[in-house]
Amino acid sequence: MFSRVSKVIVQQSAKNFSTSSQNNVKVAVCGASGGIGQPLSLLLKQSPLVTELSLYDIVHTPGVAADLSHIETKSKVTGYNGPENLEKALQGCQVVIIPAGVPRKPGMTRDDLFNTNASIVRDLAAACAKACPKAIIGIISNPVNSTVPIASETLAKAGVLDPKRVFGVSTLDIVRANTFIGEAAGHDPQNVNVPVIGGHSGVTIIPLLSQCKPAVSFPQDKVKALTERIQEAGTEVVKAKAGAGSATLSMAYAGARFALAAVRALNGEQNVVECAYVRSDLTESTYFATPILLGKNGIEKNLGIGKLNDYEKELLAKAIPELKKNIQKGEDFVKKN
Ligand SMILES: NC(=O)c1ccc[n+]([C@@H]2O[C@H](COP(=O)([O-])OP(=O)(O)OC[C@H]3O[C@@H](n4cnc5c(N)ncnc54)[C@H](O)[C@@H]3O)[C@@H](O)[C@H]2O)c1
Repeated sequence: MFSRVSKVIVQQSAKNFSTSSQNNVKVAVCGASGGIGQPLSLLLKQSPLVTELSLYDIVHTPGVAADLSHIETKSKVTGYNGPENLEKALQGCQVVIIPAGVPRKPGMTRDDLFNTNASIVRDLAAACAKACPKAIIGIISNPVNSTVPIASETLAKAGVLDPKRVFGVSTLDIVRANTFIGEAAGHDPQNVNVPVIGGHSGVTIIPLLSQCKPAVSFPQDKVKALTERIQEAGTEVVKAKAGAGSATLSMAYAGARFALAAVRALNGEQNVVECAYVRSDLTESTYFATPILLGKNGIEKNLGIGKLNDYEKELLAKAIPELKKNIQKGEDFVKKN
């Protein structure tokens, strides 16, 4: 189930034996007791790349940490409960992953989560600004299109914003695209790589089937159906869970894939590329997901959107106004609060 992450873990662990440049990497998970936070923390505890795992939540964190600490890997796990312990949890962290906040119920859009999650992400970003201003921050909490600008503006207010270190985790869109396209084309999804650009909600999710590796070819009606399935895949899970939340296990897999990619890049590994939603000047939208070459300081290079076909250009045109609205809403929130 965790094979791509496991493959990364195994490859990297083999590499670790042959290099002396291995860093000690401390990773924090904020929202560690939740539906995503727990399996994400489990996957990170499994990785030899993580030397210290700092778990923060407002409930149950000591229990989650005690449980994970019995797993036979060398990383140290510590649980921190409640806002009074937040800065302690973040101290010395190089990577902070944030899956804190409420998930969707059937009938809700990601934007419906804004009122609750905006202040949660703002407060966590403010604590990062104080305790670990140089950390690479990966935001999972929805609506990602707005929570990333919220985190950035909060860090800017504190005078420590480095846009190269703030990421919206859109990895699940790539994971889903690889799975659905792999199934449709008869390829092992492990060997499929579909870039997904734009944002992380409905029409802002733009899978680039024309840039899929290996190349795939479908009739246009099938391309449209696959694109719409990728855009609405989160809702597919919300409906199937029927009130019990949104994607947690696939998101934990995707979150671990992103976090470990950041850690590998921190450790000096070359050519680590993940799509992510970042500050960007490639389109009219000031934040935009594209493939990113990761390095020791976060974004090493934005690899851009490549060549789009006419259908993908139409998708982009639909996404931009929605993205701008979502970004504005996030930025306004920080100005007013
Ligand atoms: N980026 C994506 O692709 C993606 C995919 C799925 C879900 N999500 C989002 O991830 C978030 C979490 O989803 P979930 O299913 O794990 O929800 P959940 O309710 O199961 O868990 C959320 C956790 O956050 C904790 N929390 C609440 N306020 C907090 C605070 N101030 N500080 C720290 N922790 C706090 C809660 O105690 C809980 O343990 C939601 O916003 C959801 O929409 C994003």
